[in-house]
Amino acid sequence: MEMVKTVNVIGSGLSGLSAAITLARNGIRCNLISSMPSERAQSVLAEGGINAALDTMGENDSVEEHFADTMRGGCYLESESAVRKLTEMAPDVVKELMRLGVPFNMRDNRLVLRNFGGQKNKRTAYADSSTGKAIMSALIDETRKYEASGLISRFSHHELIDLQCRDGILEQVIIRDNYTGNTLMFNGVTILCTGGLNGLFRGHTTGTVLNTGIATAMVLAGGGELANLEFIQYHPTTIRISGKHLLVSEAARGEGGRLFALDNGVRRYFMEEKYPQSGNLMPRDVISREMELLKRENKEISFFLDMTQITDEVWQNRLSDLREEVEAYVHLDPKKDPVPVEPGIHYFMGGIRVDGRHRTSITNLYAAGEAACRYHGANRLGGNSMLGALVGGKLAAENAAGSAEPVTIENMGKTEALNIRPHIAERITGILLTGLPIIRNEEEMLEAEKDLQELLGREINKYERIEAELALAMVTSALARKESRGAHWRRDHPETSEEFQKQTVIKKENGTTEVSFLSPDEEEEKL
Ligand code: FUM
Repeated sequence: MEMVKTVNVIGSGLSGLSAAITLARNGIRCNLISSMPSERAQSVLAEGGINAALDTMGENDSVEEHFADTMRGGCYLESESAVRKLTEMAPDVVKELMRLGVPFNMRDNRLVLRNFGGQKNKRTAYADSSTGKAIMSALIDETRKYEASGLISRFSHHELIDLQCRDGILEQVIIRDNYTGNTLMFNGVTILCTGGLNGLFRGHTTGTVLNTGIATAMVLAGGGELANLEFIQYHPTTIRISGKHLLVSEAARGEGGRLFALDNGVRRYFMEEKYPQSGNLMPRDVISREMELLKRENKEISFFLDMTQITDEVWQNRLSDLREEVEAYVHLDPKKDPVPVEPGIHYFMGGIRVDGRHRTSITNLYAAGEAACRYHGANRLGGNSMLGALVGGKLAAENAAGSAEPVTIENMGKTEALNIRPHIAERITGILLTGLPIIRNEEEMLEAEKDLQELLGREINKYERIEAELALAMVTSALARKESRGAHWRRDHPETSEEFQKQTVIKKENGTTEVSFLSPDEEEEKL
């Protein structure tokens, strides 16, 4: 048995690397476990940038304004203390990334900040339109130093296959080598950095479907609490391509791109008409909803992003990767032609419920990044996701370090792979798309609930079962929230109600799933 204090980190995207580096810097060993190498994590797909009130060129920005925009964008469903921490830490997070060599766009030795949705000031630092890739590269390099010194041990191509919990305590984490089938069992404190639930929406999301949400499903199955599962972010400017949606970064609108609807041959700059002040940079939930409302009026309507007025200088220095991607996948030059867009599933505001220390409701288990529910309320602002992942990973690691113990690893030999059959995955996706679209209604949600219960009544394997239970928990949470707020909009309850300015918390108890509502700032006492 090793006698060195160790923490297991599962997932090696931004939040996982942030956690691993923080642990190593605190002299704690880390088993960094992931089914894919970091280079293939969802985080490399992040495009537009990371928010921090840095005020580098007299933008008149402040942490207070970043806080206010984030709270407003999330429709006041986030914990104030969480958003305070996030926005206060942001400037140092970006400065640290600069120290690690992230090639942010600079002028005269100062960061250039760009406009992003839902924010009053320029506050988004960026590296062209591949900010995620640039940040991940720097963190992967930093991680390697600690791998070399033995403080970080990588278990790449290892899949989480079980979280064993008893009486609310995490006892064992079981992972399987995808190449050999060999299976290992770890005890000890563990941080889940396993990303969002994109895999439940295969073919309809900008994110990687390798993030299946299975870890989140395991937390639910193990008696842990999930929160705000009904809040699914549809990004308004995506392009449907084979097998997924290509993201056309909000940065394009931040740099002057204009959305229009083609309605019976007539261009309507619908966002500018309805929201003259913020227009194309309204929060994502608002824009996606406006598109959906127009579509319901006229099925034939189509939407385009007009980027033809963006200058050569901006294309060259700030959006070059975006242009290349659109050319490669859609065979259109966005500098010359408007690009057809539609809303696509992009982000999950809800997830594993965590407190201010990033503890979950299961003892010895922490969570961070998109897997966790903490910073984004009913709708995340663009540019806050990488920030939330880096801050969350750091805080989770600092707190987990305090209870770290030596970890024992037991070899269990070869086992069966985690398997979700394609027809079951497709069925779950179909049900969720019908039950939880941009604008919802009780009837469709009840139908989805019934369909999922029917699926759960069939002979399905244990992974299929817990994925279906997670999907059912999403629908149950959406049914319980009888109001419209942020990314959860109901035709049958179009008002926003003070009564529901609370998180939905869902857990399984004695075989049944219970939903309760807790005010976001009650979390410290309740976990
Ligand atoms: O549009 C974008 O570049 C997305 C950014 C984000 O989700 O933070």
